[in-house]
Amino acid sequence: MAETQPKSRPQIAVAPSELEALRWDALFGNDHDVELEIGCGKAGFLLRRAQAHPELNFLGIEWANEFYRFAVDRFERWGVPNGRIVRTDASQFIRSQCPRESLSALHVYHPDPWPKTRHHKRRLFQPAFVEAAVACLKPGARWAVQSDHAEYFEIIACLLRAHPQLEEIPFADPDFGVEADESLRTNFEIKYVREGRSIHRIAMRRRLTAT
Ligand SMILES: C[S@@+](CC[C@H](N)C(=O)[O-])C[C@H]1O[C@@H](n2cnc3c(N)ncnc32)[C@H](O)[C@@H]1O
Repeated sequence: MAETQPKSRPQIAVAPSELEALRWDALFGNDHDVELEIGCGKAGFLLRRAQAHPELNFLGIEWANEFYRFAVDRFERWGVPNGRIVRTDASQFIRSQCPRESLSALHVYHPDPWPKTRHHKRRLFQPAFVEAAVACLKPGARWAVQSDHAEYFEIIACLLRAHPQLEEIPFADPDFGVEADESLRTNFEIKYVREGRSIHRIAMRRRLTAT
């Protein structure tokens, strides 16, 4: 009787060097659409979404080593083959490594607010970041942002609404798998909701034609 080969497991952890001259089909071994989560933390959201959508590919970027390792371990333990995690600076990745017009969705949930004025320059959402991120979206792609920090959220919403290639769409989107008022259940969202904080959300779509 022929021996069955053990099914080889994909490598979940991506080395930052693999992001040079990145090709999504080479990274995932298929040409499925790719969704990116910036600052995925422990990847509670990313893991559930990847499990629910095996027809899509998911990359989570996380800078903090402890969360990065936790996220990799989670994907490996659950045997979710369509997710990859990399430890790198998402801002740098978006500006110079992410292939242009290649993402079908971008998720940014609870970006660090850096509340002190002198630290605002560390915030992810800056005009140059938004410009580069829009260029990474395919026409028609969705960009969803959620924050518990009202002041930072207003700045983010202004930046996104002011971009000529973005149009606002409802956050709840059954086609996208988000029902009205449904929690995304990111790790920070769960914690902040328990503390009674309000959650602010916005979703944008890259226009199909340039304006
Ligand atoms: C407040 S936590 C939110 C984590 C997760 N999105 C959630 O909602 O549970 C923000 C995360 O973004 C990560 N982060 C912040 N700046 C980053 C950057 N430039 N590149 C990659 N990750 C970043 C932090 O390490 C942290 O884990």
